[in-house]
Amino acid sequence: MMGMDINAIMAEMRPRLDTHGLNTSDIRAHLGDCPWRVYLFSEVDSTNTMLKNLCREGAPAGTVLVADRQTGGRGRLGRSFQSPGGVGVYFSALIRPDCTAQELMHLTCAVAVAMCDAVENAYGFRPGIKWTNDLVVGKRKLGGILTELVLDPKTCRVLGAVIGVGINCNQLEADFDESIRPIATSARMVTGDKTDRNILIAEMVRSLERMEKTLLSSRASMLAQYRRDCITLGQHVSILRGEDICHADALDIDAEGGLIVRYENGEIGTVTSGEVSVRGLYHYI
Ligand code: BTN
Repeated sequence: MMGMDINAIMAEMRPRLDTHGLNTSDIRAHLGDCPWRVYLFSEVDSTNTMLKNLCREGAPAGTVLVADRQTGGRGRLGRSFQSPGGVGVYFSALIRPDCTAQELMHLTCAVAVAMCDAVENAYGFRPGIKWTNDLVVGKRKLGGILTELVLDPKTCRVLGAVIGVGINCNQLEADFDESIRPIATSARMVTGDKTDRNILIAEMVRSLERMEKTLLSSRASMLAQYRRDCITLGQHVSILRGEDICHADALDIDAEGGLIVRYENGEIGTVTSGEVSVRGLYHYI
């Protein structure tokens, strides 16, 4: 820590605007004895971008930023993440594990399992995971995860890991942009009821706090749960690398969260998440 007063910075940055029912006292009431600190915003560009900057300025581990709306929500592979107000949870949490980037290759998998736990605890259904970072229900996307590391340029050790998660809570089908309408879902569409976003946020925080404690020590049991949740395994998939497409059978997840596949020529290979997009042959899943 470099002696920053994060509370003063946050007070300065937070405009006092409507957050459509998101409030820190309801979140706090569901957090139990979890010591992580949640800061709410009505609108930001991207909670991940903001938290990466705060990480460099010395924000403590356990800092969580949540916005009612993002104007520049980011997804994996440079995509945007639609983040309208009043309906979703746009969430970033900071952890500071003492390790190298190589030792955190499984982080996105660990977060995905933790988010399945959180949704199940909050809303009573467990999403599946579309390798590597999408939460899905019934072949549609419920949410996504974007983990980003801040590294010490001299030692290449991790200064911080920003865990970004976006979850669709209260959209109805017509609320989604036409471009994603056929492939998007929300907790409300799954349960049939309007959902309380404060409860989900509290469960996400509690789940990530538990995950962080065992992140470097219990990789095997976490990956066993990831394999159970992962709906990609056993599927015939398309692998998209830029303009190139090839087809393969998804066989397993390796110790670093890579997808082990058998290509059509019989060769076995491992696909890592940074480079590709994986789709089912006839649908997004
Ligand atoms: C994906 O679907 O590829 C990942 C989406 C991650 C979106 C979340 S919303 C909160 C955080 N801030 C961002 O800009 N992105 C993540």
